[in-house]
Amino acid sequence: MSRFRSSSAAVVAIVLLVVLIWGVEANPEKNPLRFREDGQFKILQVADMHYSDGLSTPCEDVLPSQLRGCSDLNTTAFVHRMIDTEKPDLIVFTGDNIFGPDATDAAKSMDEAFSPAITSGIPWVAILGNHDQESTLSREGVMKHIVGLKHTMSQFNPPGEIDGFGNYNLEVRGTEGSSLANKSVLNLYFLDSGDYSTVPRVRGYNWIKPSQQVWFQQTSKKLQKAYTSGSAAKKAPAPGLVFFHIPLPEFASFDSSNFTGEKQEPISSSSVNSGFFATMVEAGDVKAVFSGHDHINDFCGELTGIQLCYGGGFGYHAYGKAGWARRARVITASLERMEGVGWGVVKTVKTWKRLDDKKLTVIDDMVLWSKNYGGNRRKKQIHGA
Ligand SMILES: *[C@@H]1O[C@H](CO)[C@@H](O)[C@H](O)[C@H]1NC(C)=O
Ligand SMILES: *[C@@H]1O[C@H](CO)[C@@H](O)[C@H](O)[C@H]1NC(C)=O
Ligand SMILES: *[C@@H]1O[C@H](CO)[C@@H](O)[C@H](O)[C@H]1NC(C)=O
Repeated sequence: MSRFRSSSAAVVAIVLLVVLIWGVEANPEKNPLRFREDGQFKILQVADMHYSDGLSTPCEDVLPSQLRGCSDLNTTAFVHRMIDTEKPDLIVFTGDNIFGPDATDAAKSMDEAFSPAITSGIPWVAILGNHDQESTLSREGVMKHIVGLKHTMSQFNPPGEIDGFGNYNLEVRGTEGSSLANKSVLNLYFLDSGDYSTVPRVRGYNWIKPSQQVWFQQTSKKLQKAYTSGSAAKKAPAPGLVFFHIPLPEFASFDSSNFTGEKQEPISSSSVNSGFFATMVEAGDVKAVFSGHDHINDFCGELTGIQLCYGGGFGYHAYGKAGWARRARVITASLERMEGVGWGVVKTVKTWKRLDDKKLTVIDDMVLWSKNYGGNRRKKQIHGA
C-alpha cells in the first residue's frame, strides 16, 4: 500500500483526476488565488445581471430618455468598464446572472453574460440566484454549464450530499515568496441559497439548509486548523467572506442610522430563518456577507461582528429605479506589512461601490473589518472616481 502511495503512477492518476474534475486553468490547488505583490487582493461583485437575449432584450427602469438603444449589451459594457477600471483579482457573480423567463437559450445567455469575465482572463466564479434556472436549463444544468466555462473557479456539487449545486470555497494565499505563501490568509465561501420554498406551508424564497451549514462549519473548522498550525501559527482565524444570492432575514436589522448605503425596498429573504447567521457567528471567521437579489438596496450594516452587504443592482434588464444608477461593489483585502519580514496576515477589508455613470463614480467607501479595530469604521461617504 505504501509503495503504491508513493509511486509516481498514483501521483499522475491523482493529477489526471483533478484535471478532469476542475479543468487545468480552474484548478485551485495548482493555480491558487493569492495576494498580489503589493499586498492587495481585490474582488468585483456583480449582482443580478439578469442577462437574457442580448441586443433584443430591453432595459428596465431607466429614464425615458435612456430607453432608446438600451439593452443587455449595456450590462455587458458595464462589466467591461468595471474590469478595466478596477482590475480585480477575482470576479464574483452573485446570482440571477441570467433572467430565465426571458432567455431563449440558457447556455447561450450565460456564455454572453459571462463573456467579459471570460475574455479578461481573470479568475471568476458564479453562484445561483432564483431566476437562473427559469430558462432552458435546470439549476443543476446551469451550474454544470458554468463550471465548464473558461477561467472559472466555480465548482459543482453533485446532487445528494449537500443541498444546492454550487457550494464551494476558495483559499487566497499570501504573496508569492512570503512566509504565508502556502497558507490561506483569506477564505471565500460561496453558497447556493436556492430559489423557492418547496414546503407547502411556506411561501416565497428558499433558505440555506442544514446540510449546507454543516458543510460550511466543517470547511471553516478545517481552514482555521490549517491556518493556525505550523510555524506561521496565528491565534485569530483568517478572515472569511461569504457570498450567496438571497439575503438573510438578519439584513432587516438595520435602518439608516446604522448602515452605509440605501434601503429602498423590503428585505426579500426567506420567511424561514434557518439559522445560518448564527452558524457564521459561531464559526468565528466570517467578517462579511455579500448578497444580491434586492436590486435597489445597496447597503452594508454590521450585526454581531459580521457586515451584511448588498451588491446593488447591476443589470439593465432587471427591475431598478429610473435615475438611480446601476452599480457594482468592490471588496479589497490588504495585508499587514511587517518590518523585515514582508507581507503578513490580512489587516483590513474595505469596500466601495461604483455607479455606471460617465466617471464610474465611487461611493460609500468604507472599512468592513480591521484586524486592530474589529470593523465598521466608515471612511468617506462620497469621492469622485
Ligand atoms: C446603452 O448603451 C448605448 C450604446 O453604447 C449608449 O448609447 C447608451 O447611453 C447606454 N444607456 C445607458 C442607460 O447607459
Ligand atoms: C511553499 O511551497 C513551495 C512548494 O512546495 C515551497 O517551495 C516553498 O518553500 C513553500 N514556502 C513556504 C513559506 O512554506
Ligand atoms: C439600528 O438602529 C435601530 C434604531 O434606530 C435599532 O432598532 C437597531 O437595533 C439597530 N441595529 C443594529 C444592528 O445595531
